[in-house]
Amino acid sequence: MHHSALLGVLILFCSLPRSLGGKLLVVPVDGSHWINMKVLIVELHSKGHDVTVVRGSSSWYIEEHSPLYTSITVDIGEFDDEFMEKFLPSLLKMQRQGRSLWNELALADETYQRFKEIHEQICNMTATMFENETLMNSLKDAEFDVVLTDPAFGGGVLLAHRLGLPLVLNVRWTMYGEAHFDIAPSPLSYIPVTGLQLTDKMTFTQRVMNVMTRLLILYKNSKYFENPYREFTRKYFGPDVSFFSLLQNTDIWLMRNDFTFEFPRPTMPNVVYMGGFQCKPAKPLPDALEEFVQSSGEHGIIVMTLGTVFGQLLSELNDDIAAAFAQLPQKVIWRHTGPPPANLGNNTMIVSWLPQNDLLGHPKTKLFVAHGGTNGVQEAIYHGVPIVGLPLAFDQPDNLSRMRAKGTTKIVDIATMDRNVFLEALKEVLGNTSYRENMKTLSKLHHDQPMKPLDRAMFWIEFVMRNKGAAHLRTQSFRMSWIEYHSVDVILTLID
Ligand SMILES: *[C@@H]1O[C@H](CO)[C@@H](O)[C@H](O)[C@H]1NC(C)=O
Ligand SMILES: *[C@@H]1O[C@H](CO)[C@@H](O)[C@H](O)[C@H]1NC(C)=O
Ligand SMILES: *[C@@H]1O[C@H](CO)[C@@H](O)[C@H](O)[C@H]1NC(C)=O
Ligand SMILES: *[C@@H]1O[C@H](CO)[C@@H](O)[C@H](O)[C@H]1NC(C)=O
Ligand SMILES: *[C@@H]1O[C@H](CO)[C@@H](O)[C@H](O)[C@H]1NC(C)=O
Repeated sequence: MHHSALLGVLILFCSLPRSLGGKLLVVPVDGSHWINMKVLIVELHSKGHDVTVVRGSSSWYIEEHSPLYTSITVDIGEFDDEFMEKFLPSLLKMQRQGRSLWNELALADETYQRFKEIHEQICNMTATMFENETLMNSLKDAEFDVVLTDPAFGGGVLLAHRLGLPLVLNVRWTMYGEAHFDIAPSPLSYIPVTGLQLTDKMTFTQRVMNVMTRLLILYKNSKYFENPYREFTRKYFGPDVSFFSLLQNTDIWLMRNDFTFEFPRPTMPNVVYMGGFQCKPAKPLPDALEEFVQSSGEHGIIVMTLGTVFGQLLSELNDDIAAAFAQLPQKVIWRHTGPPPANLGNNTMIVSWLPQNDLLGHPKTKLFVAHGGTNGVQEAIYHGVPIVGLPLAFDQPDNLSRMRAKGTTKIVDIATMDRNVFLEALKEVLGNTSYRENMKTLSKLHHDQPMKPLDRAMFWIEFVMRNKGAAHLRTQSFRMSWIEYHSVDVILTLID
């Protein structure tokens, strides 16, 4: 008896799946992008993989010491943190004062110049690594299985090529724009370029705008962003290697995107969709919060959060927002820092932080007021909560316009917003059940898939580690010239 039990334990022990225990070199992007990369790192760590993170010396978000990873700190020089603080207020002022082409171009130029400097800084940081023989040798000796990076900036792509390692991207944006445009066929007739808030059904005029904007993006890329990388690859990899070709050579693109959110479009065999990978079922709320939520009775609650920076920017609008909320029978939980708004109703609770995911997953939550920023839209889809959107910058307007096109969201233009406009929007989404029903449908579609997005991401990262890449999933398209790709030579010969 005793023996057979021991034997049983032994057999069980031996038959447990051995963890792969791979080694990953992670090159993240600082700031809000780090939130998403960290979700992957937490999961990789819990699966027994060994993670090393490359961080800049001035990083605020990426901790040097963490139980999840070892870090390599590289000197990156002075970083201008004031950028966001200067740039965003001028953007908001412009929106409130009315747009003019001149305003917009001036602001765009300033923004792009600034981003170009960041790209330059990233190239300098990567060069610092390349020039440090001790460091490069230790990276080679470490025998990593894969480089995982966010290609909003190019450091990880360059490092993977130098070390000759397979490459996996955690991506939605590359420096060239929306990531699909870099690898998949993207007909501009039905694929809207980000920035115009268009849908996949465009009028003739909209298609003209779409094509022109795409051309502008291409111009912007070559004028501002590509230069630092062009110089870098020429110096370190020779004239035949371009950054773009290195990017296209990626093994797996883990896209933070999914088709409940995105319009249907052509894709590629090495694109893996992991939109919603950061979403989790709701946990119980802290007692005080739960009590407040329950006190809302049949009316339910509204959750509002605009992110730290944006919340403060909209301070002049806060009194209007508060006044509108005060007129509703629902209870409101509003994440807000800074001076409390005037007109605050007794139905509104101001908090400096809130468990967004747990609140969105609460059955009493009726509405989410959001700016369309990091993960908010995806969490609202996951939990099936309709949105009133207050978009401000970057891809936020596009994020929310996609949701509007699916009948789940009402967008309020902050340029013309006042308390009545905002109140009407709230009442419409609360009163018209179609918003909620459409969001519930999206949520159901999102959950109805064979594998959770995070598990899918893990599978493919481990796949690349096991198989030393995924070359069999890469198409030939990007090894061809423009003339070959479009069969121009064939057509010319046939016409002849
Ligand atoms: C990058 O390095 C070059 C050459 O050392 C220097 O001229 C440039 O100012 C640096 N750029 C940034 C943004 O630090
Ligand atoms: C090179 O890298 C090593 C290991 O990370 C570090 O200790 C050293 O300070 C670096 N040398 C220079 C010149 O930056
Ligand atoms: C909250 O305000 C409303 C309207 O001003 C009032 O009718 C209600 O009694 C107040 N409730 C509490 C608990 O103070
Ligand atoms: C737009 O939505 C996507 C998907 O939810 C998200 O990854 C991204 O961070 C959002 N954009 C901004 C500017 O936050
Ligand atoms: C609800 O909203 C939808 C979409 O905006 C609209 O088509 C419908 O007529 C509205 N229903 C009512 C009762 O207002």
